[in-house]
Amino acid sequence: MDKAKRKAIIAGNWKMNKTPKEAKELLTAIAPLVADADCEVIACVPYVDLATAIEATAGTNVKIGAENCHWAASGAFTGEISTGMLKEIGVEYVVLGHSERRQYFGETDETVNKRTKAALAAGLKPIVCVGELLWERECNITEEVIARQIKLDLWDVTEEELKNVVIAYEPVWAIGTGKTATAEQAEEVCAFIRAQLAKLYNQDAADAVTIQYGGSMNDGNADELLSKVNVDGGLIGGASLVAEKFAAIVKAASK
Ligand code: 13P
Repeated sequence: MDKAKRKAIIAGNWKMNKTPKEAKELLTAIAPLVADADCEVIACVPYVDLATAIEATAGTNVKIGAENCHWAASGAFTGEISTGMLKEIGVEYVVLGHSERRQYFGETDETVNKRTKAALAAGLKPIVCVGELLWERECNITEEVIARQIKLDLWDVTEEELKNVVIAYEPVWAIGTGKTATAEQAEEVCAFIRAQLAKLYNQDAADAVTIQYGGSMNDGNADELLSKVNVDGGLIGGASLVAEKFAAIVKAASK
């Protein structure tokens, strides 16, 4: 399967930015700029922005995602949000295993796997994030790290469920640093991820998975990154907070 047959997806990850009022303003600015997009466009926003975001994008091609979810259906998990809560208000995607959650909030491959399984069971589409730390790259163990994350994060995910999984390759050293991976580095690891998926499932299943690159992707470097055969889209942090920049990346993915 060639790249043209995979769904290109540009997703914004707003992180802890924008109040509901600001979210409405930003999405109202983004929607008309991406109306002609020939790729999927998603904004993953803070929990309290979700309802406003869904309302503000109704009738547009912008889909809304959350930035995490818990694996239990309900219960004594103070501060957490269930998949059912997200589904009920119309959320379609959920970012899981972001390196900031792994780094600052004790997220492990085991919990990423539990969240991924729960999201899929609820009919949400997880964007599962993997990526190596700078010292892991310097120690030449990038492939080991990624192979382990892919295997553990997708443990017990069926081939049928894999159709609803998006993988985001986000080298931790490139996030919010302005230091982008080169297009060659991004392609090398995204191709490696696809090869791992082929090993765990089969080539056809692997070829159908959208693999995004994330880490200082912006309107200036998106074209080159997205030209690579295994880079099917982007997970965008900083540049997703500026309507024109985000729209330019969507345009690059639509070519
Ligand atoms: P930046 O685009 O700000 O580097 O963030 C990338 C990211 O973490 C997206 O999830």
